[in-house]
Amino acid sequence: MPDLRADQAHGARIYDYILGGKDHFRIDRDAGDAALAAWPALRVHMPANREFMHRTARYLAVEKGIRQFLDIGSGIPTSPNLHEVVQDVAPASRVVYVDDGPIVLVHAQALTEGTPEGRTTFIDADMRRPEEILNAPELLDVLDLTEPVRDEDIAMYGGVARKP
Ligand SMILES: C[S@@+](CC[C@H](N)C(=O)[O-])C[C@H]1O[C@@H](n2cnc3c(N)ncnc32)[C@H](O)[C@@H]1O
Repeated sequence: MPDLRADQAHGARIYDYILGGKDHFRIDRDAGDAALAAWPALRVHMPANREFMHRTARYLAVEKGIRQFLDIGSGIPTSPNLHEVVQDVAPASRVVYVDDGPIVLVHAQALTEGTPEGRTTFIDADMRRPEEILNAPELLDVLDLTEPVRDEDIAMYGGVARKP
């Protein structure tokens, strides 16, 4: 079990708290309440952010034929997760999740249970070191980086999508 650092508020758990999840500590709720006091509309913005991710991912899968997704800063699993959205419309979709939150690692299993046709995996990494993400064996096992990356494929906040 990783050290969850329950003495220190963490972005993934604060987000979970504001979204109405259950994976947070007192210190995260306190930080979340302080954020909400300063910016009450966060209660609306954060679920809207989540819904935007769903719409964008579905659009890329359905309208653009994207089948490979790299979700950096995936957060604590919140259904539907990215792989559930894209594999619902394109079961062979491949998804790599990346986060550096220890609590996210605890839940990584939920992010790797995709369709039999598709692939999903989780990498514990820091987005400030992108080369570690792009060279991770787990990523190279799931995503085909020999495919060209086109500008219009780079779409989601925190995510990179590649043509199938
Ligand atoms: C607001 S949540 C976003 C969750 C999800 N992408 C969504 O749209 O619903 C931000 C996530 O980024 C992660 N994060 C923050 N800094 C990071 C870093 N340097 N490397 C990897 N993940 C990071 C946090 O742990 C958190 O889970």
